[in-house]
Amino acid sequence: MSLVTGSETTGGAAWSNLERHRDQLVGGSLRDLFAADPERGERLTVSVGDLWVDYSKHPVTDETISLLVDLAAQRDVPGFIGRMLSGERVNTTEDRPALHTALRAPADTAIVVDGTDVVPGVEETLGRMADVAVRLRSGHMSGATGRPITAMVSLGIGGSHLGPVMATEALAHLAHPGLDIRFASNLDGAEMDRALDGLDPATTLILICSKTFTTAETMIAAETARAWLVDGVGSDVSAHMAAATAATGLAAGFGVSPELTFHVPVWVGGRFSLPSAVGLSVMASVGPEAFAEMLAGMRVVDEHLASSTPDSNGPMLLGLLDVWHRSFLGASSLAVVPYSSQLGGFPPWLQQVSMESLGKRAGTDGGLVAGQTGPVVWGAPGTDGQHAFFQMLHQGTEAVPCDLIGFARPLADPRLAHHDALMANLFAQAEALAFGLTADEAAATGVPPDLVAHRSFPGGRPSTTILAPELTPSVLGQLVALYEHRTVVAGAVWGINPFDQWGVELGKSLAVRITAELDADEGRLAHDSSTNSLIRRYLKLRGRPG
Ligand code: F6P
Repeated sequence: MSLVTGSETTGGAAWSNLERHRDQLVGGSLRDLFAADPERGERLTVSVGDLWVDYSKHPVTDETISLLVDLAAQRDVPGFIGRMLSGERVNTTEDRPALHTALRAPADTAIVVDGTDVVPGVEETLGRMADVAVRLRSGHMSGATGRPITAMVSLGIGGSHLGPVMATEALAHLAHPGLDIRFASNLDGAEMDRALDGLDPATTLILICSKTFTTAETMIAAETARAWLVDGVGSDVSAHMAAATAATGLAAGFGVSPELTFHVPVWVGGRFSLPSAVGLSVMASVGPEAFAEMLAGMRVVDEHLASSTPDSNGPMLLGLLDVWHRSFLGASSLAVVPYSSQLGGFPPWLQQVSMESLGKRAGTDGGLVAGQTGPVVWGAPGTDGQHAFFQMLHQGTEAVPCDLIGFARPLADPRLAHHDALMANLFAQAEALAFGLTADEAAATGVPPDLVAHRSFPGGRPSTTILAPELTPSVLGQLVALYEHRTVVAGAVWGINPFDQWGVELGKSLAVRITAELDADEGRLAHDSSTNSLIRRYLKLRGRPG
């Protein structure tokens, strides 16, 4: 099997230069780098809209950055981004553009796909979403019995869930008090049960978010919800069902009225679909104006991406640092820690954006890539994370790069006792991770000799700190776009397609086959001995023949 293909993930002069440079840097600590270059904390930073991004606590020098920028040039990353933004079919394995940026493009731009300017269609959908959001928020949207709708349950999974739930929680301080917005994604019926618990079908709108309108989890949930509506209000439930989908015909077949069907263009990847109709729950919660501010925030970063030189381009630099850590320093994971409890949905959202985009071994030319691609992405809000996994970040046997995201102004701090303490923790963690505490320093604080190894900290643990004024809709949009683009940059360097997700298909098709087997009264199981035995044991536990 040939490992290096036309994508030449680890080939070319820029790659070799970085390998040589890495070998020279090895052994140097962050303490040394800061001692040799005291200004780096000011200089190795980039401002992206309202976001101040400090990447000085990474094992890099100006030369590293310049070599990484060379690598981006050699891989034509700026060209790839230009092609993405202009609507070329950069998603080659699915033969379509990846145009999530068109969802937040200025209304007077023209972005042409297959001879048609797509921006007017985007504007029309946003207008129709706003109309429904306003009616919901003003109590002027009535259900089948004439009572106003006061609750929305958004059904969807993956990209049709993680973005909306993350943004709705992040902007909870702006939520309309009279609207109960809920989400259900998991196939576990208990989740659906909880989502509907206490709601009255007569005052509930079910929003079915599924770009394909075929995803098993969402369709099963939609059928359960439709049956619940029929039980509650009778057979005509069209006033209680809405859909965000590319498959408008399937939505119609399911009984969703055209007035409540919102088109998601096929050129929007699921994990990039928060700014599309999939975000209707967010818009209903915070209102069309705040939703528009979120889109405007995304646009700020889109424009920054398109117009900044690589060495002052935030998403470009962060994507290149991801490549540096993964491909050159061997880091297998990235931890993301927002110092905002309302931003707790950000790590799971990013997990899909990053791991579904970059968790690939095939290059765009169809050969296998050499070396490593995307890292495992995980995380949880600080300070909770500090009491769960930071032990390992500080003293584990490998360095895990992490992103710490904080805000200057709190969303709420009734006694003015929380926010400075919260942010002090963010700054302290970044400092402790980077500089540690040597054995001598630990001993000097009176640590007994037999505990010195336990109570000293190696330092050299890299982190990026992102500081923003406040978690506004615009800042949220900026964060979303920053991470989307950073992901695409890394994918372009590695020569993989960041926009497809073929890796989810095999498990899905096997689940369909096994579901049919579970349904059959009796049948021959033709899996491996472990799978056969597990299925038989399951059936036995359920008291069914197997
Ligand atoms: O997990 C695979 C996937 O296709 C994701 O890419 C997507 O976000 C999710 O399923 C949901 O897909 P759909 O919106 O079509 O239901």
